[in-house]
Parts: sequence; structure tokens; C-alpha cells
Amino acid sequence: MIKVGIIGVGTVGTSVAQILRDNANIISARAGVDIVVKCGVVKNLSKHRDIEIPLSDNINDVLEDDEIDIVVELMGGVEEAFEVVKKALRSKKAVVTANKALLAYHRYELQEIAQDLAFEYEASVAGGIPIINALRDGLSANHIKSIMGIMNGTCNYMMTKMSDEGVDYDTILKEAQDLGYAEADPTFDVGGFDTAHKLLILASIAYGIDAKPEDILIEGIQNVSQEDISFAKEFGYAIKLLGIAKKDAEEVELRVHACLISQDEMIAKIDGVMNGISVVGDKVGETLYYGPGAGGNATASAVVANIIDIARSGKSKPMLGFDKPLEGKLILKPTDEIESKYYLRINVSDKKGVLAKITKIFEGNNISVETMLQRPATSHSANLLFSTHIAVEKDIQNMIKEIEALDFVNSKPVMIRIV
Ligand code: HSE
Repeated sequence: MIKVGIIGVGTVGTSVAQILRDNANIISARAGVDIVVKCGVVKNLSKHRDIEIPLSDNINDVLEDDEIDIVVELMGGVEEAFEVVKKALRSKKAVVTANKALLAYHRYELQEIAQDLAFEYEASVAGGIPIINALRDGLSANHIKSIMGIMNGTCNYMMTKMSDEGVDYDTILKEAQDLGYAEADPTFDVGGFDTAHKLLILASIAYGIDAKPEDILIEGIQNVSQEDISFAKEFGYAIKLLGIAKKDAEEVELRVHACLISQDEMIAKIDGVMNGISVVGDKVGETLYYGPGAGGNATASAVVANIIDIARSGKSKPMLGFDKPLEGKLILKPTDEIESKYYLRINVSDKKGVLAKITKIFEGNNISVETMLQRPATSHSANLLFSTHIAVEKDIQNMIKEIEALDFVNSKPVMIRIV
């Protein structure tokens, strides 16, 4: 029998215990051994939970119990979870976690400490989609050319509802929180940080690259307005928050931001709380992974899969997918050298000479316009809509600063990258 301790019995922890109970028969057959929860650690013992497992409010009842083989860390947060997980590993326990923030900062240290102990984290990226397994095992014969994914259910739910139903930002964020999709602090979702944490984990498996959130471009969906969503729709685009990793020669670019993406692309059709990730390998070509990225049962499905895997196998896998360092290390492309096409919406006073002055600034910054349209906004103002040819990030940023300073420009220009 394998005994499990769960640290943090909230939505996901409760689902883990329920799945281990409800599907005990098939789980035991697949693992070749029975798996039981010996103890769940909670902060508040008097709170009602829909599961009958022994509970404790003392973390050492799990960490210091020699009978517990696998510690499931579902407490969230970074530094406290790091201490707990280190202690579990030092007590020679295998660890399963869904904690992407912990991994975004400490995955290489944890790999070092874990050594031959199993350390699994399938649920940390895209909830129920087995993307870690796919990338680390299924695609291990490939150089990964790119990863492009919708990896935050909350943002995708919000973007979909704003587009389909014209619902405003705050109402829909509250709805996503009530449905249990959002992080405790939803800034992690809407600010792009949750997606960035997930992207960094995937980038380690794909490229062996050790980047931290502060090393990469991270923008959220806070500036995406109803106006931009409807312009995008009119021109055949959807707006999605994407995590993007791309390899070009010896450089890897990593970025998270809202994107205009053609409605014909498969990833543009991924709606609601669902997640979708496209991975292109040099030998396999494009592969696509789709499924629920948030919610108790979906996330717990991945956690329990890791528990089964550890219970059935004697040997752990290299945590981040590399058994020895990659020769000829790849380097991270500086943010301001990233290249893209851009959508720009500039709200201006509708006066003579405005357009000429703006296009002069485009030219001065090396930016070439691909399409341009003017739409009246009020009786005295208009929205100028541009899409550009491929341009360099630092040129676009300089250009936006110059345009914003013009007296006939009414607000900070809106910029969304096009993929
Ligand atoms: N807040 C996350 C999301 C949960 O909305 O996708 C899963 O990581």
C-alpha cells in the first residue's frame, strides 16, 4: 500500500482525495498497489470539507510520518511551499505538486535536491492536459521549434465572454472567481504571471533554459477593451492571452501577452475556461493539446496521475527532462529585440494634419504600416487603427512614447501584438 499526505485540502486537494476514493478500483489496478490518503493538512480544522480523510493542522504529521511515501503539495505560494517541499525531499518522500509559482522560481534547486526521488508536477501547467508528459516523454526525440499556448482558464473565459456577450471586464472576472478558476490573487491571472510561470516550466523541459519571471516579457489582459475586441472580430481576429516560446538558431524568446490571432487558427477557436497548447517539433511537426486548464477535478486528475506513476515505477524520471546538461546552451533573446506584427489603436482629435504627423513618426521609427483605417469615435475624435509589417519591439515602444506625447492624441495608444 502507498500512503499519501496532502498539504492543503482546498478545491484541488478535496478533488484529489475524492478521485482516490471514487476511482480506487481502477487506480489500484493501474498502479499495481492500493493508494490511500493517510493525512490531509489544513489551516482550519473546523471548516466543512466534502471528504472523509484524517485531517491535521500540524504539517509535521505529514512531513515526519515515516509511513507516508508521497507528499502532495497543494498549499500554493512560493517560499513557504519551497521550505515544505525541501523538508519532504530531505525526509526521502516523493513529491507531487501543482504549484507553478514555486516551480517558476525554484525548479532547478528542487531538481538538485530531489536527485533520484520522484518529483512530479503535471498539474502545474494547463490543469488536466498532460502537457508535461507530452513534452518530456512523448516529444523527447525532437528539437522544439515553438510552443504557443492558452494556459490560463480565467483569462480565456474572460476574453471569450467579453467577445461573445459583450460582458464588461469586472463582472466577468467576478464570475470566473466564483467558478473557482482564478488564483487567490487574480492579478496573477489577468496580469499574465500565471501564464508566465507555466511557460517557464515548459521552456525548461523544451530548451533546458533557466529563466525567471523577471527575465521575460509579461503583459496581461487588463488593457484589452471591448472596443479592441470588436475591431479584432470585424477584421477576422480573436484576442487571446498567449504564452509563446520560440527557438531561433541559438536564441529562445519567451513572452506572455494578449495577441490578435486569425480566427482560422485552431488556437483561436479555444474558448471559455479551456486551455490549448500548440507544440511544434522539428521531426513530428505541429501537435495540439486541448482540455480543461483549471477547476478541481481537472487539476486533481493530473495530480492523481502523478501519484499513480510514482506508485507504479521504481525509478524517477529526470525532473525537468534532461539527464545531463544540454551541450551548446541556448540563450534568452532580449525582450526589446523581439519581432512581431502589431495592432495599434490611437484615439486622436479629428483635425487636419493629424494623420500625416503620426505616419511621420512611424517612418522615423522604422515602422512600416500594413493596413490603416480611421473610425469616428465621437463628433470630435476618431480611432486610427493600424496593423504593421514585422517590426522590432524597441522601435514600437519608442514610437508609442512619441505618439503619446502629441497634444492631439487623447490617450495612451493601445498596442496588441499580432501572431
Ligand atoms: N488560475 C488558473 C487558471 C488555474 O485560471 O487557469 C490553473 O492554473
